[in-house]
This record gives sequence, structure tokens and C-alpha cells, in this order.
Amino acid sequence: MNKQFDVIVIGGGPGGYIAAIRAAQLGMKVACVDEWKNKQGGPALGGTCTNVGCIPSKALLQSSEHFDHAAHHFSEHGISVSGLSLDVGQMVARKDAVVKQNNDGILYLFKKNKVSFFHGRGSFVKAADGGYQIQVSGTAEETLVGKQIVVATGSTARALPGTPFDEQLVLSNDGALSIGAVPKKLALIGSGVIGLEMGSVWRRLGAEVTILEALPEFLGAVDQQIAKEAHKAFAKQGLKIELGVTVGAIKVGKKGVGVAWTNAKGEAQLLEAEKLIVSIGRVPNTVGLNTEAVGLKLDERGAIIVDGDCKTSLSNVWAIGDVVRGPMLAHKAEEEGVAVAERIAGQHSHVNFNTIPWVIYTSPEIAWVGQTEAQLKAAGRAYKAGTFPFLANGRARALGDTTGMVKMLADAATDEILGVHIVGPMASELIAECVMAMEFRASSEDIARICHAHPSLSEATKEAALAVEKRTLNF
Ligand code: FAD
Ligand code: NAI
Repeated sequence: MNKQFDVIVIGGGPGGYIAAIRAAQLGMKVACVDEWKNKQGGPALGGTCTNVGCIPSKALLQSSEHFDHAAHHFSEHGISVSGLSLDVGQMVARKDAVVKQNNDGILYLFKKNKVSFFHGRGSFVKAADGGYQIQVSGTAEETLVGKQIVVATGSTARALPGTPFDEQLVLSNDGALSIGAVPKKLALIGSGVIGLEMGSVWRRLGAEVTILEALPEFLGAVDQQIAKEAHKAFAKQGLKIELGVTVGAIKVGKKGVGVAWTNAKGEAQLLEAEKLIVSIGRVPNTVGLNTEAVGLKLDERGAIIVDGDCKTSLSNVWAIGDVVRGPMLAHKAEEEGVAVAERIAGQHSHVNFNTIPWVIYTSPEIAWVGQTEAQLKAAGRAYKAGTFPFLANGRARALGDTTGMVKMLADAATDEILGVHIVGPMASELIAECVMAMEFRASSEDIARICHAHPSLSEATKEAALAVEKRTLNF
């Protein structure tokens, strides 16, 4: 007899594991199937985010920032360090330990919420018994039947045509998070989110980093005033970013990689490096899911086609997270996971795509929510803008971290906040207030009238709101 479930979730990343827990909380009998293996072959729940994404990258960003501070910034505070040294092995081992804590935490959460976990690959067999038969192959070999299926199989790194990842010399995000020693020269292709975060880690640890970017504009999706400020800061740190390039032949030798490229002026160049990180975007992952068996429809990019509610082309089959349209972000996957579990339970949940925050965890951090100035202009929307520099914020001065600004955009007539864009210290935390403000459809005046603790970086947000009406108090 096949094991029967109300809901089977395929994929245990932030989309899948959160969907499974929420469905169990709502009283359903839930299974989650995930195939990720740790080095010992055991389960490693949490998907890309936990294993080779959000969590390990932030662990290495933290470690490398400590090193950078000790090497370059402690002296300003009157602290001298002699004999500073670096143990990359320990740094990577710490990162692995942080990952394991998160893997184990999800296993614990599954037990606590009575989610049945199956370690292996889940694939569609056929529609059966008023639901779908799912084959699990791997550590667990089982045939399950679920009345409702949630597909949360995530994404994988996109390789350059003809240059597959070997994770030794040509690295995806996976290899980029496990380099064993600081390379003298590191090349990256793509100055998007991964390029900037990974480039920052290895630059701080002493590598000479060059990033080749195809687009002529730096961080095209980011408000350009913010992007320009960030670009300046990265250049000052020694992160070399070449824009408008065309990448040509890539030669992988025994000890390094040679990348032929053409600069924006059309001049031929050669970049030689010990390692190459390719960070040119990610592709939805449906490998092994056997979508054909049930006729689950994919788009031309290989993403599962869903409507605004994450319903697929098949009744009672849902898809969430990186494997569907929309930003490839862990918190977006989580929100969709919760909403789908609640919709299955008959509730009317909603995900507001206009208030999903973005954060790039570089130094300075870059964070934003809502629309950019360029988007407002293109939409013909009349707006007011207010900016406030961290240079004029007391806490930022005390921290010794005054790069950047908060920029607020509000509707010219109603004063409703339409977007907030931050480059600077702790932008990742500051953006939460702005997301909440937009979720409650606050006006810039609302933020300007709220009491913010002094001295705190959040006062820069209040001042940016005051700046919308040209009445800053500290600038
Ligand atoms: P995934 O996390 O990819 O999980 C999918 C899971 O499904 C995996 O465990 C996979 O093994 C499993 N699976 C796939 N197919 C099957 C199958 N047939 N059977 C069983 N299991 C299967 N986002 C942020 O919001 N903040 C960040 O700071 C951030 N940093 C990132 C850093 C890096 C280097 C990378 C690469 C990504 C980062 N992201 C970040 C993006 C984030 O990791 C993804 O958006 C998120 O993991 C998507 O969640 P998901 O649940 O859709 O898929
Ligand atoms: P990305 O889409 O952020 O950036 C890819 C960059 O590569 C773009 O600037 C693109 O123009 C460039 N590019 C593409 N093809 C190229 C080519 N042939 N030559 C040169 N440049 C080329 O993708 P990335 O950095 O790989 O990250 C994937 C996704 O993972 C992100 O979009 C994001 O959704 C997620 N992520 C989120 C993080 C966060 O929230 N802090 C951190 C890291 C990843």
C-alpha cells in the first residue's frame, strides 16, 4: 500500500520546507521529499539557500569582514594588531558548521511539526487515487500518493556555453564558497548579486579580483543613484569591475583560467586568473521531476508555469520559489510556501510582490524595496525624492562607516511611499522598516513623524523622509 498524504512537497529549500511546516500547522498530513546530500551522504535540508547560498555566503562575508577590519580599520580605533594571519581552512570549516546547524534545525522543525521527511529524488509517476503518485528514489525508496503536490525544486547555476563547472578552476556558487586558499588572482563573470558578494569575500581576504560584466550599466535593476554610489565604494576598495564587456574564449589550463574578452571600446583583452567564478544567473530546476509523465507545463526558460496564486497547469499541483517566475530570493520562496499551504487549506492568502525587499550583502550593503526613479519615470508617475547621507548620521560616524545614503521616493500628490533605496551600513536591517511602511501604505510624513532612537542608523531613514519635504534637521 502506497503511503498517502494530504500534501507532498518536493524540495526542502526555503520554499519547500516552509510550505511543509505551514501545511502541517494547518492540520494536514504532510511529506517533504528532498535529495540534497551532505559530504557524508546524509540529508542536508534547506536547499540552495542553506547549503550553497544565503547562509554560507553570509558566514564567509562576516569572516572576511572581520579580517578586513582587523587589517585595515582597527588602527583608526587605536587598536593595533601584529602578526595578523588567516586560516582559510578554519574559515570554511566555520561556514560548514553554520550550514550544518541550519540543516539540523530544519530536521528538528520537521519532527516538531510532524512532517514526514523522505531523503531522495521525488518524481511524478502518474495521476492516481484523486491525486498524484510520487516516486522517491535515493536513500529512501518509496511510492507516495498525495492529494496535493507542491513543487519547490529551486534553481541551479547557469554555466557559460562550452565551459562547464569543474568546481576546481571554473566555479559556480558551490565551489566559490569552498575555495581552500586565497587565490592571487580571481576572475568573475557577471557583476550581479553573487559576483559582488563572492568578489567581496575573496577581495577582502587578499585576492586581486576582476569582474567582467556584459551590461554597460552597473546593477541595472538598482536605483542608479544608489548603484553609482556603490560602484564608487567598490572601486575604492580595489574591486575591479569592467562593464560592457563581451566574453570570448575561455581556456582552462592545469593551474588557471584564461578569459579572452573585449572591452566597451571594442579592444581585445586577456584576463588570467587562478580561478574563475561564473555568476551569470540561475536556471529553474526541474531535472528528474518527470514533468512529462503528468503533462506539467514549463515555459521556454524551463520554469514551471504558474498563475498569481502559484497554481500550475494541473489541478492540485502548485509550484513555488526559484522554479517559478519572479525574483529568485529565499524570502519570496518562503512567502509563496506559506501562501500555497494556506490556499490548500481554503484560506485566501496573498503575496505582495511590490514589497519584496532585495539586499546585496556587500560593504556597503545595498537594499531596496518598491520602485526606482527610472521605473517611476517610465510609468509617468509624478514623485518626490528625499535623500539623506550617512555622513550626517551620528551613529554612522561613531561606527566609522559613513558611506552611502537612504533615498525615499513618494507620490507627488498623496505622499505614499513608492520606493526606498539604501546603500550603506546595515541597509539589510534598515529596509525592514521601509517594507512595513509600504505594506501599510504609509506616507513619507508618517516615517518623518515616527520617533526613531538616537543615535541609530534608522534616523537616516527618518531624515530621508523629512528630505522628501525638503526639511531635514541634520543636513
Ligand atoms: P532551493 O533552495 O534551490 O531548494 C530546492 C531543493 O529541492 C534543493 O534542496 C534540491 O536538492 C531539491 N530538489 C530539486 N529537485 C528535487 C527532486 N526532484 N526531488 C527531491 N528534491 C529535489 N536569497 C536571499 O533571499 N538572500 C540571500 O542572501 C541569498 N543569497 C544567495 C547566495 C547564493 C550564492 C545563491 C546561489 C543564492 C542566494 N539566494 C539568496 C537565493 C536563494 O538561495 C534562493 O532564492 C532560494 O534558495 C530558493 O528557494 P527554493 O526553495 O525555491 O529552492
Ligand atoms: P544576477 O542575475 O544577479 O547577475 C548576473 C549578472 O551576470 C548580470 O549582471 C548579467 O548582466 C551578467 N551576465 C549574464 N551573462 C553574462 C555574460 N555572458 N558575460 C558577462 N556578464 C553576464 O545572477 P547571479 O549573481 O548569478 O545570482 C543569481 C540569483 O541568485 C540572483 O539574481 C538572486 O536572485 C539570487 N541571489 C540573491 C542574493 C541576495 O539576495 N543577497 C545573493 C546571491 C544570489
